Amino acid sequence: MADLPPLHPATLAVRAGRHPTPLREHSEACFLTSSFTFDSAEQQAAIFAGAEKGYLYSRFTNPTVSAFEERYAALEGAEAAVATASGMAAIATTCLALLSAGERVVCAREVFGSTHLFVEQWLSRWGIAAELVPLADLAAWERALARPAKLCLVETPSNPTLAMVDLRRLCEIAHAAGALVAVDNAFATPILQRPLAHGADLVITSATKYIDGQGRVLGGVIAGSAPLVQGEIFSFLRTTGPCLSAFNAWLLLKGLETLPVRMAAHCAGATEVATWLADRTDLPAVTHPSLPSYPYRAVAARQMEGVGGLLTFDAGNLERAVRVVNGVSLFSRTANLGDTKSIISHPASTTHARLTEEARLAAGITPGLIRLSIGLEDPRDLIADLARALAM
Ligand SMILES: Cc1ncc(COP(=O)(O)O)c(C=O)c1O
Repeated sequence: MADLPPLHPATLAVRAGRHPTPLREHSEACFLTSSFTFDSAEQQAAIFAGAEKGYLYSRFTNPTVSAFEERYAALEGAEAAVATASGMAAIATTCLALLSAGERVVCAREVFGSTHLFVEQWLSRWGIAAELVPLADLAAWERALARPAKLCLVETPSNPTLAMVDLRRLCEIAHAAGALVAVDNAFATPILQRPLAHGADLVITSATKYIDGQGRVLGGVIAGSAPLVQGEIFSFLRTTGPCLSAFNAWLLLKGLETLPVRMAAHCAGATEVATWLADRTDLPAVTHPSLPSYPYRAVAARQMEGVGGLLTFDAGNLERAVRVVNGVSLFSRTANLGDTKSIISHPASTTHARLTEEARLAAGITPGLIRLSIGLEDPRDLIADLARALAM
C-alpha cells in the first residue's frame, strides 16, 4: 500500500497488514505454529543473528501476530506495535521494560483497578517508586514531575469514571520534565482517539475490549515509535514471553476490520441510553461525553472523534445499585466491556474491589456507581430494560 495516498481509518482497518502468501488467500491466514524451519544451519544462524529476515519462534514473532501489529499500528498512526497476551501484559511490559530500580512512574489516580495495584503494590517490590495524581489536574502533574520521573501512565477516558486529561498539555509538561507518556486507549480505541497525534510516546490497549469486540479472547498492544517499541519493549517481551497467541491475533485482526462501524454504533447507542438516564430525576449523576453536564466536554472536543460506548450513573446508594444490577435482563453481569452484548457492572465490588475504600472514593467510585457498556442491541430495548430495573 506504499504507493497509495494516506488512507482513512476504515480502509486501514481492513487493508493494512495484509501480506498474502503465494497461495493468494483473501482472508489473512492463521499461522498456528510455535516455530519455523530453516533450510540450513547457516540460514538458521543468519536469521538468529538478524542478518537475514525470517520468522524463528512464535514467542518472538509470528506472521499472524505481525499482521495484527501492523494493522493496529496503522490505525494509531504509530511506526511500530507489539502485541501482548492481555491488556495487563501490555501495561506490565511497558513499565518493566522501561523502568529500572530507583526510577519513578507517575500514574493517574483514575485507572483500571489492576493497573492501580500493579503500579502501587508491585513496582515498589522492584524498587520503582509510584506516585498517583488526579488525572485531569495538570498542576498536580506539574508538581509530581518536579522530581525526576521516567514515565507517566494515564487512561483517558478513564475506567470507570470517564475522566479525561488534556493530552497535549500533559505531554508538554511531561516532556519538559524528561518523562515519557503512555496512554491506555482501551475505552476510546484508535477510531475515536489517537494519543500519539497529541504528543504521547506510547499507546497501550487491552485488545480484549473493543478490538475483539465480541468477548472471545484476551489480547493487548503497545504502539509507538520504532526505537521505543522495537527496542527495549520488544526485547523484554522476547525474553520474558507475555506474547499474543497466533489464534488470538487472528481473531483480533478480524475484529479490527469491523471496529469503525461497531464504534459508531456503540457511540450512538450509548448516547441514546445516557440521554434517557439523564432525563430521570432519581439518579444523582449520569456521566457520558454526549451529555451537556459532562465535565470534560472541551477536552473531548479537542482530542476525541466520538463519545464512546461506556457510561456511568449513580443509583444513589449500594442497595439500589445491587437491585438495578440484579433487575436487568438484557445487560450481562460480567467483568468485560466493549462487547456486542451490553454489560452492567458495579465497579466498587468488582473491577475496583481490591482498592481501599479511600482510593475508590478518591477515584470517584461511589458505592452506588454503575457502569454500562452499551452493546449493539437496539437502544430502545436497553432503555425499557433499565426502566424496569430502576422501578424495582
Ligand atoms: C482501561 C483498561 N486497561 C487495561 C485493562 C486490562 O486488560 P486485560 O483484561 O486485557 O488484561 C482493562 C480491563 O478491563 C481496562 O479496562
